[in-house]
Amino acid sequence: MRSYSVKRGELSDTSFPCLVVGIAEDESFGPAIKALEKASKGALKRLIKRGDISTKAGTTTLLTDLAGTKIERLLVIGLGAKSVDQIVLSFQSAAAQLKKLPSKTATLLMEGIDCADRDASWVASKWVECLEDAAYQYVEMKGTSKPKAVSLSKVQILTNSENATAVRAGVKLGVSLSKGKNATRDLSNAPSNLCTPTYLAEQAKKLAKTYPKLSTTVLDEKQMARLGMGAFLSVSKGSDEPGKMIVMQYKGAAASQKPHVIVGKGITFDTGGISLKPGASMWEMIYDMCGAASVFGTMLTLCEMAPRMNVVGVMAAAENMPSGGASKPGDIVKTMSGQTVEILNTDAEGRLVLCDALTYVERFNPASVVDIATLTGACIIALGSHASAVFSNDDALAQSLIEAGERTRDRAWQLPIWDDYQKQINSAFADMQNIGGREAGSITAACFLARFAKKYRWAHMDIAGTSFKWAGLNKGATARPVALLTDYLLSQKS
Ligand code: BES
Ligand code: MN
Ligand code: ZN
Repeated sequence: MRSYSVKRGELSDTSFPCLVVGIAEDESFGPAIKALEKASKGALKRLIKRGDISTKAGTTTLLTDLAGTKIERLLVIGLGAKSVDQIVLSFQSAAAQLKKLPSKTATLLMEGIDCADRDASWVASKWVECLEDAAYQYVEMKGTSKPKAVSLSKVQILTNSENATAVRAGVKLGVSLSKGKNATRDLSNAPSNLCTPTYLAEQAKKLAKTYPKLSTTVLDEKQMARLGMGAFLSVSKGSDEPGKMIVMQYKGAAASQKPHVIVGKGITFDTGGISLKPGASMWEMIYDMCGAASVFGTMLTLCEMAPRMNVVGVMAAAENMPSGGASKPGDIVKTMSGQTVEILNTDAEGRLVLCDALTYVERFNPASVVDIATLTGACIIALGSHASAVFSNDDALAQSLIEAGERTRDRAWQLPIWDDYQKQINSAFADMQNIGGREAGSITAACFLARFAKKYRWAHMDIAGTSFKWAGLNKGATARPVALLTDYLLSQKS
């Protein structure tokens, strides 16, 4: 992470190793850029006119040793019409350029970088988030070819007095969020020979040592057996790696305040089990714990922000393997809720670990429960990689999540869980079966979970398409939906 500072004031001194300024397509300049123009004898207007500087969103122009100033590098970013998406796009482009420059420090001039629908705090927070997103690399596993870290280590934001407080708050959020997102990315990208359920439990215990308001308890298989979690255990029993139910409690308010609960699917590797997946892209299933990793990162961000509220984060962690001890198609298991499940496909394991976690969290008397899971390939077919899917037994809750996604640009879209779909998972022999046929695969998976979430306001997010990218050298975890979850939880603070 880079260090961030906020400075109030005008651009009186023009000595910078790297200054970033934004110019919108209306080419309107504020007092600071006007001062720059005066010193440089109108360089910016001249270059815009000549076509050497573009004001289109997503474009950047690097000017070096600007005449009349002591600015070594001036990075001009086009802002277009300054819509929310254009501001985000311009920050992403700026971040991609900045990480390539040799400068150790950079200053962003906030003047003129505003957005009709957002406040200065949001803009500052997005700036930090985009810089940290761009600078992130997973280098843990590199041996002899460790890439150089990005040079940029100090970032200053120059703002006017009016916005300084909001900008400081935005930087605080952006830094806290980025720490959480980086933790999520690190856990998600870690291969399954490192990132086992036991490893996740250790990381959660470590986190509780760092933050006094957080406590972690871990249920082992014995304890889960005593609780009757037959569905969860039917998955973990196929693996040599013991399953863990990892419970992280953030206590920021009186114990009488109902907690909000987030539950993540933490399959550290999903082979499909006896219903084995094809080999070609099976490696992608190292990412089948992205839901759990997003819970971890969100809890970390909350600890950094320290809001006065209570939040419980649960990671349902297991490995789905084929072995002599693994579940077989046709097996019937009893869940903690007492309901029985016919396992017709051992590759529909996410719902099996989640259903017992959903019953378990009843004990917290939750204000809301949101589970997050790379649950179905069908979700990628439905929404692609742009939106996470939201399902809920409470439309207001679904709406809150969707709005949090809009605000943060970590978007989600609601799909129905009408009763009409429920009959697809009725079973001849048990109370339900764990697959519902080819039609509406994401919805029937959500309908399955809904049968275990009747006692509270609940939503399920399918992040199969949004939480990781699988394309070649650009592959990697996105840390979605940590931004959405953080925004949602902070908006629930009473
Ligand atoms: N983890 C997978 C879903 C998945 C697939 C996530 C691709 C991300 C990318 C899940 O456990 C699974 O295997 N689901 C099956 C369900 C089916 C057997 C009903 C699927 O989607 O094919
Ligand atoms: Mn599976
Ligand atoms: Zn899975």
